Amino acid sequence: MDLYEYQGRDLFERHGLPVLAGGVAETPEEARAIAERLGGRVVVKAQVKVGGRGKAGGVKLADGPEETVARATDILGMDIKGHTVHKVMLAETADILEEYYFSYLLDRANRTFLCIASVAGGMDIEQVAAETPERVAKVAIDANKGVDVATAKEIVAKAQFPAEVADEIIEIAIKLWRAFVAEDATLVEVNPLAKVASGRVLLLDAKITLDENAGFRHPDHEALVDQSAVDPLEQAAKAKDLNYVKLDGQVGIIGNGAGLVMSTLDVVAYAGERHGNVKPANFLDIGGGASAAVMANGLEIVLSDPSVKSVFVNVFGGITACDEVANGIIQALALLEQRGEAVTKPLVVRLDGNNAEAGRAILDGAANPLVERVDTMDGAAERAAELAAAGV
Ligand SMILES: Nc1ncnc2c1ncn2[C@@H]1O[C@H](COP(=O)(O)OP(=O)(O)O)[C@@H](O)[C@H]1O
Ligand SMILES: [Mg+2]
Repeated sequence: MDLYEYQGRDLFERHGLPVLAGGVAETPEEARAIAERLGGRVVVKAQVKVGGRGKAGGVKLADGPEETVARATDILGMDIKGHTVHKVMLAETADILEEYYFSYLLDRANRTFLCIASVAGGMDIEQVAAETPERVAKVAIDANKGVDVATAKEIVAKAQFPAEVADEIIEIAIKLWRAFVAEDATLVEVNPLAKVASGRVLLLDAKITLDENAGFRHPDHEALVDQSAVDPLEQAAKAKDLNYVKLDGQVGIIGNGAGLVMSTLDVVAYAGERHGNVKPANFLDIGGGASAAVMANGLEIVLSDPSVKSVFVNVFGGITACDEVANGIIQALALLEQRGEAVTKPLVVRLDGNNAEAGRAILDGAANPLVERVDTMDGAAERAAELAAAGV
């Protein structure tokens, strides 16, 4: 999960890192109130989860509350790289002398953590990295050791931070690493980390990604989720512990195992090209051991998407035998009817693998007119696409 800058700023503050006072506003009037509280000159910053806001005109200085209202009015509603600005952050202004770059991230390719730091930070860091990579220092961080004084000194030396800020940056490097670990982040990026006129070093921007797989350790992270950006079906699926991703097409997909579901998306997309260009409507992996209840929950989610015109249930029986899955489907249809959500859209079911014959016999025996059985994956994809195209 990516955080907004204002959430990142708050997180830094909680971990004792030096940031400027600020607040977040959704209207120009709220911005005025914060500017009055902060006093003097403020910076008005678009809150969107994308970089390069400064260059896009989303970061503006304002002298006092009146100008703050004007700048907030300009920035709210702006489009930055396809993201609409719904909030602005107001912060005290800093008298910046130098802009540095500092980040910690998970380096998946090298199976380690990495610190990237540069004295040439600021809005042109991408260009610096591309044209003068020697100005960007990279230091691998041993997960067991973390960032102690020696590692922090190594970072400072390698990035060639000036002597007068070395001590402050060592302290920031250590605290920032502690925050990175404590919050289970996969990225904390500070650009700029700025040396200001008072001689202090401040964190003036915050880009943070938290590891959602560690969410169970952080009940407080839930509050950071931007509910307005969450797809309601994905939210409902998450509440039911289902692995669901909403897509734009018309063929609902349910399968067991992420790999099978992904290849199902592919075959349906290919088949769809022959049937009015219908496409997969979602990814839904019901996992192994798919019980009737799980199947019912899955069908309920997929069918509550109004753009779904047909559903392809693709199951390869492994640990879960196909007869159990077939019973699951039949029971799920009955369960949905009991819940007052009787299924009205056609289902194409392909069962293969462990106990496939028994599973097919169960489906045939139930003789539900909405359920069609096709025994090959390609054939079933073809039929599901055809039914979807007919229903559009
Ligand atoms: N509090 C501040 N006071 C003064 N200048 C700032 C402040 N915050 C940001 N800036 C300036 O605006 C630039 C862009 O802001 P930043 O938060 O880094 O947004 P982005 O990285 O999305 O462009 C910074 O490089 C810095 O020069
Ligand atoms: Mg920045």
